Amino acid sequence: MIKVAVLGYGTVGSGVVEVLEKNCKQVAEKAGEELQVGYILDLRDFPGDPYAHKVVHDFQVILQDAEVRIVCEVMGGVGAAYQFTRQALEAGKSVCTSNKELVAKYGAELLEIAREHGCSYLFEASVGGGIPLIRPICNALTAERLLAVTGILNGTTNYILTKMDREGADYGEVLEKAQELGYAERSPEADVEGHDACRKIAILSSLITGKHVDAGQIHTEGITSITPGDFAYARAAGCSIKLLASSRIQEDGSVYACVAPFLVEASHPLAAVNDVFNGVLVTGNMVGDVMFYGPGAGKLPTASAVVADVIDCAKSGGGATPCGWTREAASLGNFSQAEHVFFVRAREADREAVLAAFPVDRLLEAEGGAEDFGFFTKAMEEGTFADQYEKLGNKVLGRIRYLAG
Ligand code: HSE
Repeated sequence: MIKVAVLGYGTVGSGVVEVLEKNCKQVAEKAGEELQVGYILDLRDFPGDPYAHKVVHDFQVILQDAEVRIVCEVMGGVGAAYQFTRQALEAGKSVCTSNKELVAKYGAELLEIAREHGCSYLFEASVGGGIPLIRPICNALTAERLLAVTGILNGTTNYILTKMDREGADYGEVLEKAQELGYAERSPEADVEGHDACRKIAILSSLITGKHVDAGQIHTEGITSITPGDFAYARAAGCSIKLLASSRIQEDGSVYACVAPFLVEASHPLAAVNDVFNGVLVTGNMVGDVMFYGPGAGKLPTASAVVADVIDCAKSGGGATPCGWTREAASLGNFSQAEHVFFVRAREADREAVLAAFPVDRLLEAEGGAEDFGFFTKAMEEGTFADQYEKLGNKVLGRIRYLAG
C-alpha cells in the first residue's frame, strides 16, 4: 500500500480524494498496489467530512512519514506550494500537480531536483485539465519534430466568448453570470487577461523545445475588449472568436509564442470548441495535425489527470519523467516579426485614410452599422501592423488577428 498526501483540500484536492475513493479498484489494478489517502494538508478543518481525520496543518508530518511516497500538490500559487514541492522531491517523494503557475515558473528546476533524488515531478493536469496532452506529447509523438501547438487552453474565457457569441451579450454581463455560476473566479484577471493560457502555452513550449520558455516573455492579450460588435463582424465573416494560445517552433529551435483573441474561420477545428471545453492542435512534421479535445477544467476531470500521474509514479517507482525540459533558456523569436492576417474595424468617415495604411486583402460588409466598416489585411508583420495602427489613432475602432480554416 502506498500512502498519498494531498496538499490543498479545495476543488481539485477534494476531486483527487473522490477519484482515489470511487475508482480505488481500477486505480489499484493499474498502479499494481493499493493507493490510500494518508494525509490532507489544509489550513482549515473540515468537521463532518469523511476525511476530516486525515487533515493535518503541518507539512512536516507528511514529509517525515516514510510511507508517503507520492504527494499531490493541488493548492496552487508559487509560495508554499513551491517550498513543499521542493522539500517533498528532496526527500525522494514524487509530486503530481495541477499547478500551472508553479510548473511554468519552476518546472525545469523541479524536474532537475526530481531526477537528482530518484523521484518524479508530473503535471499532466496543469494543461488542458482532464485532456491527456502532456503524456501524448512526451510519450507518443516521439518520432516527430513538433512544429507548432495552437490551442484553446482556458475554459473560463471560452465559456464567456461562446456565450457572447450565442446570446449577443456584452463581456461584463457574461462575466458576471459566469461568476454567479462558479465558472469564473471572483478575481478573474488570470483567466480574462490571458495569463492562465500564457502559462499553459509556456509549459507546452518548454516540453517541446526541451528548454525553458519564460511565460513573462510571451506576448499576451486577453478578451476584455471584445465587444458584441466584434461578434457581428465575426458572423459576417463566417468566423467565431477564440482566445488562442499558440507556439511555433522555428528550424533553429527558437519559439514564436503568443496568446490573443483570434477570428477563427468556421471550418477550422478549433472553431467548434465551445463552452468550457479546451481543444489543442499539435503539429508534427510527419503526422501533421493531431487534435486533443475535452474538459479543460473542473473538479473531476482535473483530479482524474492528477490521479493518472499518481498511478504512473506508483508503477514506475519514481522513474516516471516527462520529456527533457532543462533550465537552459529557450530563444524566443522577436514577436514584432511574427506574421499575421489582421481584421481591422474603422470609422466609415476615415475609410480612405485607413485603407491606404494597410495592404488590404478584402473588405467585409457587416451588420456593424453605417458608422463603421471592416477589412482583412494581407499577412503582415506584427511590428509593421502596430506602427500603422497606432498612427491612425481614433480612426480605427479595433483589430483582431485571423486564423484561416
Ligand atoms: N481557470 C482555468 C480555466 C482552470 O478556466 O481553464 C483550469 O486550468
